[in-house]
Amino acid sequence: MSYSGATQTTVQTIAAALKAKPGALLPILHEVQNTLGYIPADSVADIASALNLSRAEVHGVISFYHYFRDTPPGKQIIQLCRAESCQAMGGMKLEAHVKERLGIDYHETTADGQFSLEPVYCLGNCACSPAMQIGSEIYGRVSPASFDAAVSEEGESA
Ligand code: FES
Repeated sequence: MSYSGATQTTVQTIAAALKAKPGALLPILHEVQNTLGYIPADSVADIASALNLSRAEVHGVISFYHYFRDTPPGKQIIQLCRAESCQAMGGMKLEAHVKERLGIDYHETTADGQFSLEPVYCLGNCACSPAMQIGSEIYGRVSPASFDAAVSEEGESA
C-alpha cells in the first residue's frame, strides 16, 4: 500500500489532533495503528515533523515496542499464548509447529497476507492450555493437528 493521499491525510490529521498532548508520540502511534492497522514507514517523517522530533527518534520508539507493526496485518491475527501454563502444556512444541506451518516468526505476516502471528501472555484460558486466539475466537488444548485444522477453516472462511 503506498503512503499518499488519504493515508497520508489520515496520519497528518491524527498527528495534528494529538500533538499537544503530553507524551504525544505514543498516543499518535496507537491511533495511527488503530486506524490504518499499521504504521506506514513513510509516515514516520510526518509524525516526526508534527512533534519536532527526528525520524530516528520516532523510528526508535516504533521498533522498541513489538506491538507496533510497520507492515499491514494479515486478514486474521493468530495470537499464540506464551505464558506459563501454556508453556507447561506443550506450548513450545506447538509454537515451533505454528511457525513452521505458517513459514513466519512472531510479528510477521504470511506471504499470502492471510495470517499474522503474535505472541500473547495469557488468554485467560489456562485450564485448556495450550491456548490461542484467531480473530475473536479462542481455542484450547491446541495440538499441531488441531492448529492445522483451525487455520484451514479460518483460511477458507476469511
Ligand atoms: S497461560 Fe496460556 S491461557 Fe493462561
